Amino acid sequence: MSMYKHYSDGRRRFLKMSALFGTSALISPAIARAEGGGADSPENGGFAASRSRTLGKGSCALEASPLGFGVMGMTYNRSQSPSREQCIRLLHEAVERGVTLFDTAIIYGPLSNELLAGEALSPFRGKISVTTKFGHEVINGKGTGRQDSRPETIRRYCDESLRRLKVDAIELFYQHRFDPRIPVEDVAGTISELVKEGKVRRWGMCEVTPGTIRRAHAVHPLTAIQSEYHLMHRDVENNGVLDVCRELGIGFVPYSPLNRGFLGGCINEYTQFDPNNDNRQTLPRFTPEAMRANMRIVNILQQFGRTRGMTSSQVALGWLLQKAPYIVPIPGTTKLSHLEENLHTLDFTCSPQEWAELENAVAATPVTGARYNAEQQRQVGH
Ligand SMILES: NC(=O)c1ccc[n+]([C@@H]2O[C@H](COP(=O)([O-])OP(=O)(O)OC[C@H]3O[C@@H](n4cnc5c(N)ncnc54)[C@H](OP(=O)(O)O)[C@@H]3O)[C@@H](O)[C@H]2O)c1
Repeated sequence: MSMYKHYSDGRRRFLKMSALFGTSALISPAIARAEGGGADSPENGGFAASRSRTLGKGSCALEASPLGFGVMGMTYNRSQSPSREQCIRLLHEAVERGVTLFDTAIIYGPLSNELLAGEALSPFRGKISVTTKFGHEVINGKGTGRQDSRPETIRRYCDESLRRLKVDAIELFYQHRFDPRIPVEDVAGTISELVKEGKVRRWGMCEVTPGTIRRAHAVHPLTAIQSEYHLMHRDVENNGVLDVCRELGIGFVPYSPLNRGFLGGCINEYTQFDPNNDNRQTLPRFTPEAMRANMRIVNILQQFGRTRGMTSSQVALGWLLQKAPYIVPIPGTTKLSHLEENLHTLDFTCSPQEWAELENAVAATPVTGARYNAEQQRQVGH
């Protein structure tokens, strides 16, 4: 049974219980269900919606809802956003619908995104996981564009994130970008100490190579790798990252699973990005010319969805979910309607042949524009 099918009953009970006890003491029935599950089997091309997925293994394992929630765009890099109250309400709606993995980072804002996550989600601590990321240097609340993963900085960032998130321990602390000055063994060793001290429960890395993953994992087991992955950017299938995750039992969290909204079909060559708060205007794939050309790919997803009752976002997310049981995408949204649409992905099943047809149709359509500019590209793939 899907998370959504339980929604009406669950919501009525939740509201009634909230009135009696206050939301902080509660967790929705959907979450209780999600906690009880195991890994999904994508063998028939589907994914069991009511089950949780497992990122990592052994003492480093983290149970999560099949779809997480990327909090970033609520305050950072996705143009205008609703008020703080609206964002908090939407995050609560996500919890209520069974989402248990929420992703933020120190650099988002900077700081404002962690503060939002802390305010909205700390009442649910112990029931959901808020993951955050260190690495980008932030001085006096401003990003410098440099990396800083020195052990003493990781420790300081950890203490500050704990305060902003209002938790005793960070459920999953990612290194946001590799720092070429600091050997990965030193980063992993620092995390190991923070785990022993009880300040961090698990760790992960973003946009790193299989070689770096192996070295890091040997010092302290990784729970998840987070890299960009969607139908328009499939590098992790070919560069060994998904293979090494499968081999070592590390989870994989695709970020920007809708290609920063593009695969949802709501943005196009005429979209005006907020010049002060949207990194898409710096990305070659988001020039008006590139978006006009790449709209052919959105059309393929829309066509695929049309005969199956799915939207292009659901096609994009469903394709990722059926790739492997250790994958948990983290789409972001500022809208309840999009949250519900994305969670409804879990109600659909397509056969492996159908997914292969979609994949082949998209692969036959060249993508126009690189995903990152030169500076951003320099920071990934170490
Ligand atoms: N590790 C890293 O380096 C890294 C980098 C980037 C992002 N991330 C993480 O990944 C998360 C998601 O990434 P993202 O925000 O870049 O990309 P995304 O999830 O691919 O796309 C988000 C955009 O899609 C739109 N959207 C969501 N659902 C939709 C739907 N059903 N139909 C149409 N549009 C829809 C949202 O707009 P509305 O608000 O209008 O719904 C939002 O602007 C972030 O929050 C962050 O946590 C990590």
